[in-house]
Amino acid sequence: MKTVLLVTSSARHEGSVSRAAAARFVAALKAASPDLRVIERDVAARPPAPVTGEWTAALYTPAADRTPAQRAVLAESDALLAELKAADAVVLAAPMYNFGVPSTLKAWVDAITRSGDTFVYDAASGGFKGLLQGKRALAIVSSAGDYAPGTPAAAIDFATPYLRFVLQFVGIADTSTVNVPFQAGDQRAAATASAHAKLDEIARAWTA
Ligand SMILES: Cc1cc2nc3c(=O)[nH]c(=O)nc-3n(C[C@H](O)[C@H](O)[C@H](O)COP(=O)(O)O)c2cc1C
Repeated sequence: MKTVLLVTSSARHEGSVSRAAAARFVAALKAASPDLRVIERDVAARPPAPVTGEWTAALYTPAADRTPAQRAVLAESDALLAELKAADAVVLAAPMYNFGVPSTLKAWVDAITRSGDTFVYDAASGGFKGLLQGKRALAIVSSAGDYAPGTPAAAIDFATPYLRFVLQFVGIADTSTVNVPFQAGDQRAAATASAHAKLDEIARAWTA
């Protein structure tokens, strides 16, 4: 693994649980591979532009036929896509906001989930095929509550399954998720320590 893309999305830059967990994970990767290149993309600090009609029209115009204005409209999305393609692994760090992901991270997903670039319709299987093969991904989701699988609240966690699905949809079959729950209660320290232990285990697996 030569390059990892770290996408952070908490609106908080001080005291952010998701940023701290992701930093811990990346530090563990770095400790094992000192030459590792880390591309950090902070979508809270620089939110990707939302999808517009112009953007959609430009995307569905064949690349060779795009006008300079259309190329300009797609430039940010192209840059985000290039970062992702350049990475062997991607780490998404997200707080749960109102049961989903921050709108800035959704904008990043919209920027990189592009027909013909990261997925294609596969007539043979009648389904979609992700094009980002050979990468690994990890999504870290922090939350005030707990939405562990098997609990009634699991059904209202739209952040973790969403991130897992979109990463797999673009072809990253080797996708893991780690939750850092209970950030609003007495179980906070234990839940954070348990999440950190899971992250350390995944970092060991990624660098073995
Ligand atoms: C706008 C907003 C919405 C939130 N919505 C939820 C929620 O739906 N469920 C939940 O468990 N926690 C929710 N939280 C709490 C955060 O997920 C929690 O504090 C998390 O640790 C934030 O991540 P961070 O520490 O990286 O900023 C919300 C926090 C904010 C600021």
